[in-house]
Amino acid sequence: MKTFPPHPLSNRLKAPITAITAYDYPGGRLCDEAGIQLILVGDSLGMMVAGCEDTTSVTLDQMVYHTRIVRRGVQKAVLVADLPIDTYRDPDEAIDSSRRLIEAGADAVKLEGGIEQVAKVRKIVDSGIPLCAHLGMLPQRVREEGGYRKKGRVAAEAKELLEAGLALEEAGAFAVVLESMVARVATEMTRSLRIPTIGIGSGKGCDGQVRVLHDVIGAFPWFVPPFAKVHGNVAEVIRKSLDAYREEVVDSDKVDA
Ligand code: KIV
Repeated sequence: MKTFPPHPLSNRLKAPITAITAYDYPGGRLCDEAGIQLILVGDSLGMMVAGCEDTTSVTLDQMVYHTRIVRRGVQKAVLVADLPIDTYRDPDEAIDSSRRLIEAGADAVKLEGGIEQVAKVRKIVDSGIPLCAHLGMLPQRVREEGGYRKKGRVAAEAKELLEAGLALEEAGAFAVVLESMVARVATEMTRSLRIPTIGIGSGKGCDGQVRVLHDVIGAFPWFVPPFAKVHGNVAEVIRKSLDAYREEVVDSDKVDA
C-alpha cells in the first residue's frame, strides 16, 4: 500500500481506508465509534433519507442541516460533506457553498466531475478548504446520462478518467472517490496518483472503499445496488420491534406502564 502525500486530512487516513456515509447524529456517532476513518455526509441522503429517486433534488440547505447533525456525533473520523448539484456552477459559487458546509462542521467538501472542475477545485483548495474529488459514475448527472453506467470500458474514456485524476490531484484534491469504474482503470488510477483513491463499485485495487451506510446495515430493503454487500438486517430488526410494540399495545395486559 502506498503512503499518501502530506496533508492535514490524508495524514489521518491509512490504507486501506474505511469510509462510509452518514446522515444524522446516531449514524455519525456509530460509524465514528466503530473506527471508520472517513465519514461522508453524502447527497445520497436524497434517496436514503428523503425517498427521492436520485440525488438531483438535494439542496445546499439540506446538506448544511445534515452536516451539522452528523458533526455532533463525529469526533475522530474525517468528516466530508457533498456539494449538491447546482451549488458549484462557477468558482465563486463553489467557494460560497463550500464555506457553508465547512461552517456546518465539515472538515472537507466533495464535488463530482473531471477536467471541467479543475479551476473550481483549485480555487476552493486555495481558499483553505480541503476537497475530495469524485470521478467515474457521477450520480448528479444520472438524468443527463439516462441511467447508471460503468465508466472506463472504452479506451478513450479510460484515458480521460486517468487524465482527470492527475489534473484534480495537481489542483490540490486530497483524495478522490472512484464510483462504478472498471476495476482495471481504478487500479491504474490508484497506481498513478499519490493521493488516496476511495472506491465504490470499482474493484479491490483502490486505496480504500466507501459504502452507503444503509446498504451496509440493511436499512433500505427496497433497493440494494448490485455491488453492495449487505452486512446486517436493520430493516428486519425495526419490523420485528414494531410488531412487538403493536402487539403490546393491542393486548393491553402486556403494557408495563
Ligand atoms: O452521496 C454518496 O453517498 C456518495 C458515495 C456514493 C460516494 O457520493
